[in-house]
Order: sequence, then structure tokens, then C-alpha cells
Amino acid sequence: MIVETPSKVILFGEHAVVYGYRAVSMAINLTSTIKINKINERKIILNLKDLNKSLSLNLNDTKDLNISNLDNNLSDFKYCLCAIKNTLNYLNIEPEFGFKMEISSKIPVSCGLGSSASITVGTIRAVSKFYNKPLKDDEVAKLGYLVEREVQGKASITDTFTITYRGILEIKNNKFKKIKGSFEEFLKSCKFLIVYVEKRKKKTAELVNKVAKIKDKDIIFKKIDEIVEEALKTKNKEDFGRLMTKNHELLKKLNVSTPKLDKIVNIGNIYGYGAKLTGAGGGGCIIILVNEEKENELIKELNKENVKIFKCEMMN
Ligand code: PMV
Repeated sequence: MIVETPSKVILFGEHAVVYGYRAVSMAINLTSTIKINKINERKIILNLKDLNKSLSLNLNDTKDLNISNLDNNLSDFKYCLCAIKNTLNYLNIEPEFGFKMEISSKIPVSCGLGSSASITVGTIRAVSKFYNKPLKDDEVAKLGYLVEREVQGKASITDTFTITYRGILEIKNNKFKKIKGSFEEFLKSCKFLIVYVEKRKKKTAELVNKVAKIKDKDIIFKKIDEIVEEALKTKNKEDFGRLMTKNHELLKKLNVSTPKLDKIVNIGNIYGYGAKLTGAGGGGCIIILVNEEKENELIKELNKENVKIFKCEMMN
């Protein structure tokens, strides 16, 4: 069986969402893939194809793994192992046989696209389906969130929930609403480029702490929230792109952009409808709304900048 799982971008509202304002996130078709097959032993074999690393464990040992105390050589497997542990315990099954799982991913890591959440959600779906007890989205999302909390110590629902429910989510106060209707239809017609610009210099928590020290942050958050309000009513790409750029300008005021990110946003403004950083910032990725008429020029300009470009669309 093969399970393909999206990644995510934040379209509007990062950082403001930490203070109870709204954010809009979207699942995208940059995916991770999990292949799971039966083996006739009570074992699990994990293979991280991109890193060329493998691991074999007894099924019994998986159920009470202490994730915060894993050997160094297991650390690349921690989201996957924690997801397997929590799924088996949640389903409360004593499997007679184990599985081999092959994990691969097109999602660049540590840059705000939810690569770990994608592996986590994919693993939960794969293991529960494999043992013929497929879980509902509500269960997958909650388990996914618990896994991220167990591995990272802290987590927001944005990544795991967007990646589980797919499409577009409005997030507020750690609660979510799936956005359907004309806004969803509009976003389906949009083509985005994700540009991986540079490695993040700081972790999400450090960037959130940096923003906390800004004096005028509430004024900025309110302006971001107004952008969210306007964006949700938008049905044309020009306006949507302009709002993305406006959101980026406010993120700059929160000191989470970098000169290199700004440079790519500028290119996105000239050759696309608009652009902004996505996620916590401090490096990482830019999202650009593509203007099809100028797409070739856009890509040509971006290629001069030593960045990685990923074409993507909303994934439902
Ligand atoms: O960790 P990232 O890059 O996906 O983005 C986090 C978004 C923040 O609003 C900065 C933090 C949060 O928990 O919502």
C-alpha cells in the first residue's frame, strides 16, 4: 500500500496567529510518500530512502519507546517511530505480523513546509490502514498533533491539521475551520511557486520569542488580521498577490525577514502577482503567486539567485 501526504504553506497570518489572530494555511502537492508492506515476523523495518538509512526493531519494543531518550542513530526516525508507537497504542492491537515501511519525500526540511508533520500524518494513516483499522481525519489530526508535541515538546495545530484535512484552513486560537466554496475554487485556479531561499538561522520558537519583544506588535497583528479578512473575500489574483506582499511588509516590521528573502519577494512582485515569506521566517521559503503570462521570466530571474524552485498547487 502507498500513502501520499501533502505539505503545507501559511498563506497569511503567521506569528499573528500565536496571539489569537487568524491565519490561513493550505495543503500543497509537494508530498511525502510511504510504502508499507507485510513481513512475516513481529518486526518493523524502516527505510528512509532519501537519507539511505534503515532500522529494524521488534514490534513489542515500539509500543513503549521513550522518544526523548532515543539513541543518536535513531534520531532521523523519531517522528516516524513516535507515530507508529502512538497509532499502535491508540488502536490497542497486538499485531501478529509486522511491516516494512519505505519513506521518501519531496519536501525540503526545516523550512516551514511541515515536512515532519507530513511524515507523521502519513505514518499514522499507513499503519492504521495496514492493520485494517483506518482512522478518521479527526483521529489522525489529534494523534498527529500529539506526536509532534511528544517529539518537539511544543507544537501548534497548523501543520498536522492542515496536512490531515487538506485544502484550506482558517486557524484561530488553536482551533480550525475548513474553508470551502468560492475562496477554495479561486485558490484551485492559482499556481504558486515555493522558493527555498536559504537555511533558517533560527528555529520557530526562537523567532516567536523575538517577535514577542517587539513593542508595537499588536498594531502590526491587527493590520495582518485585516489582510486575512480582505484576502478571504478576494476572487482575483491581482488583489490576492497584492495582499500577500502587504503581509510580507508587515512581517518585515516584525523582523522575521532577511535581505535574501526580501530580494526574492521583490522578484515575485515584478514577475508574479505577489509574494511573501511563509512560516516563521528567518530564512526558509518564499511563496509567489504566479502570473502565467510572465512565468518564464519569473523562473529565469529566480534561477539567477541560487535558490530551489518548487511548482505547486493546492492539494485536496
Ligand atoms: O514553523 P513554521 O515555519 O511552519 O511556522 C510557524 C508559524 C508561526 O506562526 C510563526 C508559529 C505558530 O506556531 O503558529
